[in-house]
Amino acid sequence: MRGEDEHTIFLKDYAPSPYKIENVELDVRIDPGAARVRALLTIVPRDGTPPGTPLVLDGDGLALRSIAIDGLPLALTAYDETPSALTIIEPPVKRFVLETEVQLEPETNTRLMGLYRSNGTWCTQCEPEGFRRITYFLDRPDNLAIFKVRMSAEKALAPVLLANGNLVDSGDEANGRHFAVWEDPHPKPAYLFAMVAGDLGSIHDSFVTASGRTVALGIYCTHGKEAQCAWAMDSLKRSMAWDERRFGREYDLDVFNIVAVSDFNFGAMENKGLNIFNDKLVFVSPEAATDTDYDGVERVIAHEYFHNWTGNRITCRDWFQLCLKEGLTVYRDQEFSSDERSRPVKRISDVRLLRTAQFPEDGGPLAHPPRPSHYKEINNFYTTTVYEKGAEIVRMLATLLGEAGFRKGMDLYFERHDGEATTIEAFLKVFEDANGVDLSQFGQWYLQAGTPEVSISDSYDPARQTYTLTLSQVTQPTPGQPDKLPMVVPIKFGLVGPNGSPMSYSAVSGGRVDGDIIVLDTASATLEFSGVANRPVPSLFRGFSAPVKIRSTATEADQLFLARHDEDPFGRWQALQDVSMAMLVAAAGGQKWRDEQIDGLSRAIAETATHPTLEDAFKALAITLPGLTEIAQTKASNVDPDAILTARNSMIEEIVARAGSALESVYATTQNSAAYAPTPAQSGQRSLKNAALAYLVRGLGKRGADLAANQYRQAQNMTDRFAALSASVAAWTPQAAGLLGDFRTMYTADPLVFDKWLMLNAAAAQDETIDRMRAILADPDFPRNNPNRLRALVFSFANGNLTQFARLDGEGFRFVTSFVADVDTRNPQVAARVLTTFRSWRSYEPQRRTLAEAALRDLQQTGQLSRNAADILERTLAG
Ligand code: PHE
Ligand code: ZN
Repeated sequence: MRGEDEHTIFLKDYAPSPYKIENVELDVRIDPGAARVRALLTIVPRDGTPPGTPLVLDGDGLALRSIAIDGLPLALTAYDETPSALTIIEPPVKRFVLETEVQLEPETNTRLMGLYRSNGTWCTQCEPEGFRRITYFLDRPDNLAIFKVRMSAEKALAPVLLANGNLVDSGDEANGRHFAVWEDPHPKPAYLFAMVAGDLGSIHDSFVTASGRTVALGIYCTHGKEAQCAWAMDSLKRSMAWDERRFGREYDLDVFNIVAVSDFNFGAMENKGLNIFNDKLVFVSPEAATDTDYDGVERVIAHEYFHNWTGNRITCRDWFQLCLKEGLTVYRDQEFSSDERSRPVKRISDVRLLRTAQFPEDGGPLAHPPRPSHYKEINNFYTTTVYEKGAEIVRMLATLLGEAGFRKGMDLYFERHDGEATTIEAFLKVFEDANGVDLSQFGQWYLQAGTPEVSISDSYDPARQTYTLTLSQVTQPTPGQPDKLPMVVPIKFGLVGPNGSPMSYSAVSGGRVDGDIIVLDTASATLEFSGVANRPVPSLFRGFSAPVKIRSTATEADQLFLARHDEDPFGRWQALQDVSMAMLVAAAGGQKWRDEQIDGLSRAIAETATHPTLEDAFKALAITLPGLTEIAQTKASNVDPDAILTARNSMIEEIVARAGSALESVYATTQNSAAYAPTPAQSGQRSLKNAALAYLVRGLGKRGADLAANQYRQAQNMTDRFAALSASVAAWTPQAAGLLGDFRTMYTADPLVFDKWLMLNAAAAQDETIDRMRAILADPDFPRNNPNRLRALVFSFANGNLTQFARLDGEGFRFVTSFVADVDTRNPQVAARVLTTFRSWRSYEPQRRTLAEAALRDLQQTGQLSRNAADILERTLAG
């Protein structure tokens, strides 16, 4: 297959290692400029390993200082050392202890994998292959070992010393140093190892488990940020209680610690008993964080906590199984947020993310199955397909099996696989065994890439009182997978009668229907419902019951009917989106909508915005038009971002011309002077207010611009201030530049607010944007190694500013590729992530497509790229 070479790793080649590391004792001496790691590894050959089989340990950039087996130093001829491996040529045939010593330089570790220093704090990141940057090891998730670590450091520099598990000893040493010994009784793979040393503040609390054990909870952070950790602590306690209630899972150690660090490649990491977090997912306060930030903290705290069972107690056999822990844990955190807040609102937000991030990935050159069959660089597979599509697969299982059947399967999963490193097959098997079903065809969801497209048409025969629904599915070819099989697609549905109430039928034939679920598992099916008294309007894919693209022949009238009457809130939202999406896609292709169409849409929006009983957060989502990425994604080919932006902006203006007074009254009635609280009611009200404001700023000219400027100045919290500023920047009002400048000076001291400023600079659909970004990057004070800063500026630009990224002079593309070439030398993961924003380059109209390809080929010419960036680039150009 194309692009595969000696670096490609295949699932089919999986084999257990001939040796197992059972026990690990680390002794880590931390000093500024250097850390020394001495490792005692208890190693045993696996049954059947022939004597004389070499032991190959992974390493990455390590330099060996000393090596001994069972206390005896090894002769030079007894081992082979390279920066990426340590081979013991003829290990003992029985259990032995290997002792190695290496020296590390955390200060120069800009990749942020292994042991590095962030803001003075020493911390680790080991998933997926970072432990080999700390010591030579079998750095693979199927090696479960007991870890004990002794750390020592100067007390003044690092009064706090943390690692996984329980603190078993601590005390002073000579020369102002001290030490701590941590022991984790649970066997774990090395990717879950963590340690932290630094001068940190902390907050503490406790949680009593269902069986009555008290767990000490701690959150550690930069001094002065303690108060901003309170929401994270609250979220943690609610997560612990929820996992007991919903899944019967209790926490299993006496301590649970979280550390917030400023330099981190991802969101957070589920290390056993010692989660390490990107600080943007811990710190929130009303003045500095938005409602969305609060939601993000709650969600990620929950996610990492839930990994304790789905990821840590039961881990992955190999990295091809990543989705086993990630898809399942995302599903669990989605359910948590749904139970804590509004289920429909959560579902709509998740579906929007799926469509704006996962669908483009699945429909482009980087498409891969949730469980890939091969990879070159595992870091490039922490994708929205593995996470979000992975969660959709678990959700479909729950839909198909019902709540009780799903829970039975989960219970069996925990019972059968606790303490193991296992596979997707084993996961599916527990649901088969617990429910007596065959999931072999369903399992294709893990194996087949691409978003299935389901086409729907229907007809009604009044004479026979039968309603016919014709369904078919097709999945387009993806790289390496030209031919696709039909998938098992659960379609939750209802038939809606003329007055909006559910319609019954007496029988159905032609396909599988279980209660309110049609199971489409063939290429096509024609369902005939009999005993249907009137022509129904079908409400299909309720709650977005399958991650597919829906091609429906439903009329605009039927969609507007569903927007008002569907009992499924998701269906209402979807119907309204479908109406505006069809108009937008047509307009972007040069076919402007008709007056009646925009009249109808405006009426529906006004009615929704002022509806007496719908919840505010739902209204906000329902009245917000599809974003540029979603429109581009739906248009699929010959994409001209300028035309899309123009169409969307003029739609907003025309809606305000018709529904402006409703939106103004919504804006007026959603004002609230109560003290900020991140409650669903308050945050919902703010989101509705700010959705209305976004319309008014674009549609009311000077009056709208003034509304936003006033809101910015008078705002009592960051949610309102940031929304007003975003709306001003999006419409580039006369005040926009001044307000942006004000925001910069108002918040110079807070890096997380600085990120918001960077994002807004990157978001402006304005010809000056790139120059402004170049100037920001050129500032010698710009923190050029901090992933949050870099992502806030460059990733958000390439990912979200469609018109400037895809400029007709190619400057947007070149700005991004030259950034990638530069940052790649310091942090390949950031570089690779930014590069994925080119994934839809083939869907542009020809001129932009040519420019994008030229920028990518120029980057390839440099020939200097990391494996991370080279892998993304090669696949992007090939697919
Ligand atoms: N396992 C982490 C999560 O999903 C993500 C992560 C991956 C963090 C790799 C760091 C490095 O919760
Ligand atoms: Zn995760």
